[in-house]
Amino acid sequence: MRVRKAVIPAAGLGTRFLPATKSMPKEMLPIVDTPAIHFVVKEAIEAGIDDIIIITGRGKRAVEDYFDESPELEMHLEKKGKKEQLEMVREISQMADIHYIRQKEPKGLPDAILRAEKHVGDEPFAVLLGDDIIKSSPPCIKQLIDVFEKYNSTVIAAQKVPLVEISKYGSIKGKLVEDRVYLVEDIVEKPKPEEAPSNVASVGRYIFTPAIFDCIRATPVGLNDELQIADSLTILRGKEDIYAFEFIGKRYDIGDKFGYIEAIIDFSLENKEIGDKVRDYLSKSIKC
Ligand code: UTP
Repeated sequence: MRVRKAVIPAAGLGTRFLPATKSMPKEMLPIVDTPAIHFVVKEAIEAGIDDIIIITGRGKRAVEDYFDESPELEMHLEKKGKKEQLEMVREISQMADIHYIRQKEPKGLPDAILRAEKHVGDEPFAVLLGDDIIKSSPPCIKQLIDVFEKYNSTVIAAQKVPLVEISKYGSIKGKLVEDRVYLVEDIVEKPKPEEAPSNVASVGRYIFTPAIFDCIRATPVGLNDELQIADSLTILRGKEDIYAFEFIGKRYDIGDKFGYIEAIIDFSLENKEIGDKVRDYLSKSIKC
């Protein structure tokens, strides 16, 4: 069955990015001039997904406003003859069919995914975390869809990380079944490096079968008093095979200060308008 729908959880509190996230969603943090979540929505669209569900929470209105029409702004740009900007603003509000579902309390990523159950129905679906930008061609989620279409079972994105950093991720124990594809045998959430089964980390892209919903309902509250996706996946593994795919591409964790700075540097260096100036500035300031 074709993956037609994508769920983008964006209801987390973003405590790693306080105080900015006190009054603005971290998914709206700009990467040069474009909010992080724009890249995530674009990734889903470029993978052929046309039905997008964003899970929001309190204080996340800016996300809805961003993808909505902006009549006053459009009128202003039209009056001033700023055609290029007008087109850009209109294109954003026409990007895709976006639906919003509210997560009343941030009870963890699995709970955010469960909010989408009614809209998703009985079909496989993609999950893209709203604070993870992945630069890749083809889009990371398309790479996962291709693996899903071969194995017809849940596929999660994986990336090798330095072992000292594995405690920020779910660590995957798996059997390599083909180049970059692991059959998952275990996932340990945020282990100490010495206790991690591997340095293969589970990161923010997934293709789930609808079986995940019952597994989330059966998931006990875990680390930090939240539901943890690794625990839901462990339950799912008792029902179907789970594959992990080491995608080709670069990931930026926008919810993390260093990840955000990495994205700003890389995207600004590639920016036609300011790339050369940034390169020049960086090389000078590093020498100082
Ligand atoms: P994170 O764990 O990175 O988000 O969740 P967080 O809880 O906002 O982060 P910190 O640790 O406090 O800084 C990954 C993704 O899942 C969403 C987040 O918005 C983010 O995109 N999420 C998380 C939800 O939608 N609901 C939740 O209850 C938790």
